[in-house]
Amino acid sequence: MSVVARARVQLLADNVADQIAAGEVVERPASVVKELAENALDAGARAIRVELEDGGKTLIRVSDDGSGMDRDDARLALQRHATSKIRTATDLIGIATFGFRGEALPAIASVSRFELETSGEGEDGTRLRVTGGKLDAAEESVRQRGTTVTVRGLFYNTPARRKFLRATATETRAAVEAITVLALTRPDVAFSLTSDGRVLLDCPPAARLIDRVHALWGAELTDTLLAVSHRAGPLEVTGLVQRPAQARPAGRKGYVFVRGRPIRDPFILRAGEAGYRSTIAPGDRPSLLLFLDLPGDAVDVNVHPAKLEARFRDKFFVERVVEDAVRAALAPLDAAFPLSGVGGSGLGAGVFAGGISVPLELFSAQSLGPSPEPRTPSLLQVFDTYIMFQTDAGVAIVDQHSAHERVLYEDVMRQLSGDGAPAQRLLLPLTLDFAPAELDAIDAHRELLTRIGYEIAPFSGRSIVVHTAPNPHPRFEAARCLQELVADLAGGRFGGWQNRLERFAATYACRAAIKAGQTLDAGEMRELIVRLLTATLPAHDVHGRPSMVQLPKEELERRFGRT
Ligand SMILES: Nc1ncnc2c1ncn2[C@@H]1O[C@H](COP(=O)(O)OP(=O)(O)OP(=O)(O)O)[C@@H](O)[C@H]1O
Ligand SMILES: [Mg+2]
Repeated sequence: MSVVARARVQLLADNVADQIAAGEVVERPASVVKELAENALDAGARAIRVELEDGGKTLIRVSDDGSGMDRDDARLALQRHATSKIRTATDLIGIATFGFRGEALPAIASVSRFELETSGEGEDGTRLRVTGGKLDAAEESVRQRGTTVTVRGLFYNTPARRKFLRATATETRAAVEAITVLALTRPDVAFSLTSDGRVLLDCPPAARLIDRVHALWGAELTDTLLAVSHRAGPLEVTGLVQRPAQARPAGRKGYVFVRGRPIRDPFILRAGEAGYRSTIAPGDRPSLLLFLDLPGDAVDVNVHPAKLEARFRDKFFVERVVEDAVRAALAPLDAAFPLSGVGGSGLGAGVFAGGISVPLELFSAQSLGPSPEPRTPSLLQVFDTYIMFQTDAGVAIVDQHSAHERVLYEDVMRQLSGDGAPAQRLLLPLTLDFAPAELDAIDAHRELLTRIGYEIAPFSGRSIVVHTAPNPHPRFEAARCLQELVADLAGGRFGGWQNRLERFAATYACRAAIKAGQTLDAGEMRELIVRLLTATLPAHDVHGRPSMVQLPKEELERRFGRT
């Protein structure tokens, strides 16, 4: 075992101590667990074990195989403002350790029956017993390198606070959560947590975040996640986010880490959710695990007594980049829903892995010419609803309505913010009747309707006359689309969209798109697939469903016993 480089514990000068965000360190067993496990990580532990009795109310024990301390340091560590992690206030800039206040151990020891057992590599071990902050005993102890802290009778001497402890199950859950969060920051470190002898967490050291997520929550979540990897200027965003179609209204996991430190930041989570715009059903909350890395001087972690918040120099920049990062994770074709575990996790095993494996030029018009290229993928329409084609690594299956909806939605959003859509003047203007509420909806959306190509004038009473209409595809029925669109707008269908423009675009895209059950000829299929494959978010429709799914070749081989 290598000797971990170890800084000495020293008392902070008063002027440094005064600059540290101070407050209540120990609120409940989970905060003790958090502080002790953070200390273990700071000490270079490779394995951290947590034991609880009665939700931590009777006993909390955290053992690590980190650097340990010698006797002098161990004694000093129990004093307020004694730390090995910083010396001066400037050390706080870009601080890489979890700890820096020199507050946690003395705070815990002052409200419990506390025992610290520690030993450095090849050193004599030390056991210190502290009761209610008073050192009772300092003994030799024999142990391997590392530290074990045992906290009994938390708040035994402050009955008012002890009374506020919650039910065992609740305190246990909070402690599990504290370890879960830390386990996400360091997949390479083993974590275990037992509660009254029952193993609640058991995470072996892992190479990748996704493996740690699997150890914590199983395949059910893991298989729904896509990898995030995005950089803008000084900010790098990595992590895992959920495929839109698999997000649910409840039970999502939402975690934010800044420079490896867990923080609670609803704004960053919201920015991440904003990246799902137009891909998710209203009310669904995707799981997000976002790791932000940026230079130490661009963020201040010394703003919250429990270090649960961070302050960014440029918060709006950070939020914008997080949104872009999530959007970029949803964009690749490989973000399409896999019909097996093989292509799961979006981590590079799907039919579109490594970019578009269907060369787009093979779909383009000239390949329909007199001498078609030999490898032109053939498109097969099944059930007059789905279009299937082969890629290098499997079979892609597209829902023609959802796909067209996605394509039209992106067209319309461009048209609404640009010059509008090319409209077609109708040889015979249409006269249509509407209900009063629908006429109101037409009035309220007249400008948007004009931009997408519907030029409408009042006619008489409940009638309007339509002079021009959009022409998104040859089978488009201008009158029916307008009637359905206006009924949706008047009826508040597709509510939940925050942005009126997006809601309008999604509603129109839904009504204008080719429907399921329509037979398409080869040219129509080809055009749809080319346009889908060049869309910004091709794999997701605008209501939180997939527009395509992928069937990896490996899955076929597995099913047919070819592997
Ligand atoms: N598990 C451990 N292994 C090795 N050294 C430890 C361990 N726990 C604590 N120490 C030492 O004791 C010191 C005091 O720990 P304490 O948690 O009170 O403060 P801190 O970690 O420096 O700052 P903070 O109050 O922000 O946690 C640490 O700086 C570290 O040197
Ligand atoms: Mg600490």
